[in-house]
Amino acid sequence: MSVTHALEADDSMFGVLLRQDPELAEILHAERLRQSTTLQLIAAENFTSPAVLAALGSPLANKYAEGYPGARHHGGCEIVDVAERLAVERAQALFGAEHANVQSHSGSSAVLAAYAALLWPGDTVLALGLPHGGHLTHGSPTNFSGRWFTFVGYGVDAETGLVDYDQVRTLARTHRPKAIVCGSIAYPRHLDYACFRDIADEVGAHLIADAAHPMGLVAGGAAPSPVPYADIVCATTHKVLRGPRGGMILCGSELAGRVDRAVFPFTQGGAQMNTIAAKAVAFGEAATPAFSAYAHQVVANARTLAAQLADEGLAVTTGGTDTHLITADPAPLGVDGRTARGRLAAAGIVLDCCALPHGDTRGLRLGTAALTTQGMGEREMRVVATLLAAVLRGEARPAAARDDVRDLVGQFPPYPG
Ligand SMILES: Cc1ncc(COP(=O)(O)O)c(C=O)c1O
Repeated sequence: MSVTHALEADDSMFGVLLRQDPELAEILHAERLRQSTTLQLIAAENFTSPAVLAALGSPLANKYAEGYPGARHHGGCEIVDVAERLAVERAQALFGAEHANVQSHSGSSAVLAAYAALLWPGDTVLALGLPHGGHLTHGSPTNFSGRWFTFVGYGVDAETGLVDYDQVRTLARTHRPKAIVCGSIAYPRHLDYACFRDIADEVGAHLIADAAHPMGLVAGGAAPSPVPYADIVCATTHKVLRGPRGGMILCGSELAGRVDRAVFPFTQGGAQMNTIAAKAVAFGEAATPAFSAYAHQVVANARTLAAQLADEGLAVTTGGTDTHLITADPAPLGVDGRTARGRLAAAGIVLDCCALPHGDTRGLRLGTAALTTQGMGEREMRVVATLLAAVLRGEARPAAARDDVRDLVGQFPPYPG
């Protein structure tokens, strides 16, 4: 059946879109096919549930709602107020936080708001250096953070790849930062939040945890929580947490007013009520035993994948992982990260390059959140690692590997039926 015929028979949202805007419907359908015929190993991605997608595509998308429940700048907010209160209450309960703000449009806007709540332009901030896994919002000169604040970078140990907490303490004593940021886009191990708290207290700094990556594991009880230690916790809702694309902020009640004002009106306008409703759905899902089992399986899968990649000869950073995320240098297989990503993409294995601390070339970053949502387990992780290494070594032609990938993914459709 041609794509067009398949869409004509489809009475879902895609079908509706097809009848009105075939050009765009074809694009959405092509992306749906891409997602369901290739391996999604991007560590920051996941498959949201149909319920989350339903909330995202709901009429709440039409509502303007500047402000907070009970104190809006627009009329007609009585229903969306209930949705936002529900999202807030669920986030507070899920993470044991006194206060939650669920309006941040993204992880970056959550970090921006955290800085706005605690800092003034020119303040010094200590964060993981970008080549060591810091995010753009942790001081990149191309980002507001690097332009408006003075960032000092700590790093990971050259031998172990682990955060050098002695260096963090020494830099904190030397630079007396106003805030210390802990969090990373590529660190595969648990962070020692208690140690960061201790260092922050010693130098009188605020502690901001940017837990965008591990927050879903925290929700499922598969990773330690930064909430008891950090003054402000920022996170995304779309990674392991499996919610809609967006951000959130958690803090104690003493900072609630500052955080809320930093989100609106300081850094954002109207809240995206459909996304907030979808966040509520995701928080509800993440509170279930099934999600806890999922989060633990994500970690078990990542550990197996990391071990198998190491067996295949890749240099796995820190020797493994505690989380959903793995970074590895493919150089021992005779290929750098950038070339590897291209070759793997041709085979339908989709992942990212990343900076390698202390390295000259780029490495690979991959994660197991999406594959685990599809129902893959440790057996499939071994298959994935073997396929990936065969492509990198040039033993399997990408086109042939593409067929194996399609067969494997076909057994685990992200949206069955
Ligand atoms: C640690 C960290 N902070 C912030 C962000 C930014 O999130 P977003 O892309 O939603 O702005 C990310 C995204 O990957 C991240 O990993």
